[in-house]
Amino acid sequence: MSNYRSCHSIEGELFFNHLNKVGYCCMLTPSGGQPVLFENYQGELIDWDKFFKTRDEHICLMQNGSELEACKGCLWIKSSDWPERKNELRYILLNIWVKCNLFCSYCSNHKDENVLNNTKEYNIIPVLTDMINKGVITENTKFDIAGGESTLDSNFNNLLDLLINNGIKNININTNATVYSESIKKGIDKGVVSIITSVDCADAKKFELIKKKNLYKQVWKNLKKYSANSKHSSVRAKYIILPDVNDTKREIRNFILKAKLSGVSGIILNIDLHWLRNNSENSLKMLHVIELTRYFIKVSKFLRINYNVWAHIEDLIKRYNILNPNNQIDINFIFQN
Ligand SMILES: C[S@@+](CC[C@H](N)C(=O)[O-])C[C@H]1O[C@@H](n2cnc3c(N)ncnc32)[C@H](O)[C@@H]1O
Ligand code: SF4
Ligand code: SF4
Repeated sequence: MSNYRSCHSIEGELFFNHLNKVGYCCMLTPSGGQPVLFENYQGELIDWDKFFKTRDEHICLMQNGSELEACKGCLWIKSSDWPERKNELRYILLNIWVKCNLFCSYCSNHKDENVLNNTKEYNIIPVLTDMINKGVITENTKFDIAGGESTLDSNFNNLLDLLINNGIKNININTNATVYSESIKKGIDKGVVSIITSVDCADAKKFELIKKKNLYKQVWKNLKKYSANSKHSSVRAKYIILPDVNDTKREIRNFILKAKLSGVSGIILNIDLHWLRNNSENSLKMLHVIELTRYFIKVSKFLRINYNVWAHIEDLIKRYNILNPNNQIDINFIFQN
């Protein structure tokens, strides 16, 4: 351990991002954010000696009280005790897909024309294989697989098999679960893959309204198949509250019941972050979301299903408290299991 000024991401993370960029993180700092290491990246092999040398130079900047232009103002920079650095990665995010068979009204990808029109999907397998061979990826590297919808990629099963067969133990996949993948099931049963699926509703009509496809039954059927006979807590269904769209207690209750019946190992509550960004002054609506959150927790406890309330809702409560200094809400109710 040594104490110096640095950030979590630069110390051992790599993000293969949309727009064919590779960087240490996907932060949006006040100065524009996201130091970009490779532009127009399409799966080419990387010179890892050079990469780690450059990374160490960037850390050196921080140690000396400066930082890359894109990192200026980033809240994640801090003086701390950092473990000894090795030339391997602790965490990798694969956010390289944009194609999707759904069109969720809230989706960050589909809201960004620039991302949709200017990201070229590519085959990541050669570079991951190279990273495994060179020890840049080890059994301890944690993976997050995100969007668009990775399971639609014809290379998806090979990609997952590659990671699993090389002993990677912690792979989280955000999938809409419209397509069933044997490789995902194999990974779940082995205890090395977890999935999160945003269902966001409790009936087929609302599903179609939010996601523009009639695949509600298919999604729950697949979640049930993924969960079947699994000893591991690794299939979670998510509910993103979309104010004025799916924000009734009845819908939340029915979603939890459906999740319980399908046998998923847990449920997650979140809020549409676009809505949150644009409605931080609307304390009446925010109060309603807080009420729904309390209800979600109450029903989850009653039905004995594992639940999780994500940080954007904590954010919402903090914003609500700023608006209502004399009538603040104790955020701890989220954490008291
Ligand atoms: C962009 S999706 C891609 C992966 C996959 N297609 C899926 O739906 O899980 C990654 C995650 O971001 C979440 N997400 C997208 N837009 C969001 C928003 N506006 N607010 C909160 N979460 C959002 C989705 O629910 C999903 O869990
Ligand atoms: S300082 Fe912030 S912007 Fe820079 S690499 Fe770290 S997390 Fe990303
Ligand atoms: S399924 Fe995922 S990628 Fe597709 S539109 Fe919905 S959130 Fe976006």
